[in-house]
Amino acid sequence: MKIETLRWFNNRLEMIDQRILPAAFEYLSYYTAASVAEGIRSMVVRGAPAIGVAAAYGVALEALKLSQGEQAKFDEGMEEGFKVLAASRPTAVNLFWALQRMRRVWESVADQSPQQIAQRLLAEAQEIHAEDIRINKAMGAHGAALLQDGARVLTHCNAGALATAGWGTALGVFRSAVEAGKKISVIADETRPFLQGARLTAWEMVQENIPVTLITDNMAGYMMAQGEVDAVVVGTDRVAANGDVANKIGTYMVAVLARRHNIPFYVACPLSTIDLNIASGKDIPIEERSADEVKGFRDTHWAAEGVQIRNPSFDVTPAELVTGLITEKGVVLQPDAAKLRALFA
Ligand code: MRU
Repeated sequence: MKIETLRWFNNRLEMIDQRILPAAFEYLSYYTAASVAEGIRSMVVRGAPAIGVAAAYGVALEALKLSQGEQAKFDEGMEEGFKVLAASRPTAVNLFWALQRMRRVWESVADQSPQQIAQRLLAEAQEIHAEDIRINKAMGAHGAALLQDGARVLTHCNAGALATAGWGTALGVFRSAVEAGKKISVIADETRPFLQGARLTAWEMVQENIPVTLITDNMAGYMMAQGEVDAVVVGTDRVAANGDVANKIGTYMVAVLARRHNIPFYVACPLSTIDLNIASGKDIPIEERSADEVKGFRDTHWAAEGVQIRNPSFDVTPAELVTGLITEKGVVLQPDAAKLRALFA
């Protein structure tokens, strides 16, 4: 089954509602920048590259809507659309990367009619969409070469087709390895509190018939100590100029454990996730989400009422713990500032 996380259909954006997977599979429709921003904020769509693609379509939708109205209101409406999208989530840099790319395209055709601008922006969103799948496949090929036949690979969160336009970053590496004839198996961390591992990664791997074992996050150390993990591959939301990696909360813990057990720790990372404007991980904005996610799940609450709760949604793994960054341009072993700069040269 091909997973189409987002699709352009009948002049609207449709996105799989990832909040209800795997119990139900449903598309929701989007017509404006504000509704796409709400879809990002509420996690209908999540995962750094998918958020970027959604935001690009959000800009195009807004332009299409505004191009039906008064020409004088077009610019102001567009600025509002950019603003609401930029405020949807703070950590994944792909959101800001996509908005900047859409803004440049808008500027390049600003002298044209709103209808023409809207069509050009839609074409750009569709290009970002298609490009993301191509990039994932290129990363997949580079990453698959790092995995031995029979490798048991642990991953954290969901960096799959659902987190991208399709194929996936970390899970794309697994798909490419299987396509290349390697018999790999996946260990999926559950990924408290939002359960992206249990709900999304496990589901994706089951759909593909790739052997997958689900564990709770606190079992990773035991599995490594037992010699049951050969490699770790995760995705990322933002990589700083020095190679520090922000990813789903709990990734840092996995990286420390991997180092302790001499297990390679790889990060699948498209160039759009590298933020050369941020010197090190300590400056990456970390989203703090609702206490309700930690208190329980959906309507069930298990924590004592009145308890204080923290819910940082991401953490930062220092570059020194990263064995390699898997990019569409190849694998950067032991990433550092000079090697990352060279990627963009
Ligand atoms: O909060 P989420 O589900 O958006 O977080 C997603 C992650 O942390 C992924 O690992 C990351 O975006 C990489 S996706 C290819």
